Formats: sequence, C-alpha cells, structure tokens
Amino acid sequence: MPTVNVLVVGGAGYIGSHCVRQLSAAGHRPVVLDNLVFGHREAVAGEIPFYEGDLGDATFVAKVLQGEEIELVMHFAAFAYVGESVENPLKYYENNLAKPITLLKTMLECRVGKFILSSTCATYGTPAELPIVEETPQRPINPYGQSKLDLENVLKATAEAHGLSFAAFRYFNASGTAEDGTIGEDHDPETHLIPLVIQAAMGQREDITIFGTDYPTPDGTCLRDYVHVDDLSRAHIAAIPHLGKPGQQLFYNLGTGKPNSVREVIDTVEKVSGLKVPVREGPRRPGDPPSLYADSSKAQKELDWKIHYPDLESIIATAWNWHQSHPKGYSK
Ligand code: UFG
Repeated sequence: MPTVNVLVVGGAGYIGSHCVRQLSAAGHRPVVLDNLVFGHREAVAGEIPFYEGDLGDATFVAKVLQGEEIELVMHFAAFAYVGESVENPLKYYENNLAKPITLLKTMLECRVGKFILSSTCATYGTPAELPIVEETPQRPINPYGQSKLDLENVLKATAEAHGLSFAAFRYFNASGTAEDGTIGEDHDPETHLIPLVIQAAMGQREDITIFGTDYPTPDGTCLRDYVHVDDLSRAHIAAIPHLGKPGQQLFYNLGTGKPNSVREVIDTVEKVSGLKVPVREGPRRPGDPPSLYADSSKAQKELDWKIHYPDLESIIATAWNWHQSHPKGYSK
C-alpha cells in the first residue's frame, strides 16, 4: 500500500493513539492534532509530528493540512460521556458536531477529500434486533449518540454534494491496550467497566458496582460487545484503499459479535489477575440498553478485517498489563 499522510485528530487519546501506532506499523505517515483536553502527550511517540490545538480552529487546521500535505483525516476527538451529554447537550453538539463541520469545511478548502469517523453503536439506541447490522434503524437515546448520527448524516450530504469519500465506523465497546504495554487507557474521570473492575482488583477503588442485576439476560446483567482497540485501529487502516474514488460512503459496525455480561467481565478480571474483585450490586444506570452486540461481517468481508482478539480474556489480559505497569496512568 502506498504511504498516505494521515492527520489523526485526537491522536493523543485512547483510540487515536493506538491508531497512530498501527498507521506507522502499516507504513503510513501519521500526523497528530490534539488539544490535550483528554489526550496525553506521552501517548504519542517523539518522532510523530504533533500539533497542539483545536479541530475547530480553521486557520490552525488549514496550516497543518497544507504544511504536512495531508491526504486523509481520521477524527477521534469526540466527547464520549453519555450522562454528561444529557446534562450538557450543547457542549456535545458543539464538540461532536459543530467543530467537525468546521473541520470538514477546512478540508474542502484545502482539497483534502478523505475522512474516517469514529462513530458508535450508541447511534442505534436500544435496538429492535440483535445482533446489530448496519441497516438496523438508528434511534439514539441520548445527545452523545445523536451528535454522532447527525455527523454521519453531514458526511453523507458532503459526499453527495462535494465528493467527500468517507468511512464511518460504529464501534461497540472499545477495550484493551497495546500488547507491549507502552500506551493504554487513561480517562479522567474513568467510567468504563473494564478499567474500573481492574482498579477494584488492584485495590485502587473500594469495589465495583454492578449497574443492574435484573435485566432480561442470562445472568441478569447487561451484555456488551468488547472489542480490542488495536482491532478497531486495524479496520481504519484497512479502509484507506477503499476511499480512492470520490464520493465513497462506507458504514461498518466494529465488534467481535460476542456478547459478554458485566459479571463475565468481573470473573475474567479475577481469572487474569488472580485477585478477588470486591463487588456491590446496585440499581440500573439510566439509559443502559440490556444488550448490544454487533454483526461485523460486512467489515470482515469488504475490508478483509481480521479480529486478532476474539475473546474477553485476551482483551482483558492486555488491559491488565497496562494497569500493572502504569498504576496511575501516564504521567503520574
Ligand atoms: N457498568 C457497571 N458498573 C460500572 C460501569 C459500567 O455495571 O461501574 C456496566 C454498564 O451498565 C454497562 C457495561 O458495564 O452495562 C459497560 O459500560 P461502559 O460504561 O463501560 O460502556 P457503555 O456500554 O455504557 O458505553 C460505551 C462508551 C460509550 C459508547 C458506548 C458505545 O462508554 O461512550 O460504549 O460505543 F457510546
């Protein structure tokens, strides 16, 4: 594959930083733009060009696009706290919709015509059918999911009007960390299940609360589709050659297709760590669908996407390594 100059917006964040590594490994030339609101400078290797700034700053972005001769933009810089999006929707529509629209306008002005979006299974809301296919109706139930769906629609219209070529990946539950333990997952605040369970196992928090034990699932706890962050990253790279022609519109679910319950996550952390996880049973968290898992056969077939981490244990083993070697995250 010829080397492509890729601007990775949000490249110092959890998924973005993993994608930067995979881009380099595949022979591409990543350039990172990140405002470091949630990103970590340490997550980006020294030799990668790094620009600190905001995706909504058109003058700054145009300079980077032109100066680095960017051919394709990957966008990982969304806010992703569902509860906060309900309390402060304007913050989410501004960051996840208005700013990316400015980014797209800047791209068109600079004649950069390829784009890859981190979208989400949250665009499906509580789905009527499982597993979720790309044609499953998208009915988000919070401003976070809606902001991503709105951006997907903006991309469609831009493809039709201006020939933008894009892929939108609807991630299920991104998890795990790089195999070598050099980059990982460090959110503040942390709300995701796997890091929280690991922190409870390590004694960094008192316990893990299971949000709901009376769901209509085999063990009463929610089912999710946990997919390794490096598998997600590889799908982005696999999409690059499919964006050659103007006006391409590609949509893919990315998950392993295997549902795992909250209790299974806890049991697997205990197995991998050899430690006991203190558990508390709590009420349901508002807005949690009982069950979300993907049919990713479209990505596997069309992009030749291969899942390297098909099971929870192999995913959690990588997360466990990271937390062991970085008990306080990146910088502390
Ligand atoms: N959970 C608990 N206790 C906790 C935290 C989570 O029981 O302390 C449960 C949740 O109820 C859910 C499961 O663990 O059933 C997974 O929860 P996460 O918060 O880790 O992930 P979600 O499935 O809620 O959402 C994640 C991201 C969202 C994104 C969504 C789909 O947090 O930003 O995946 O992409 F929209």
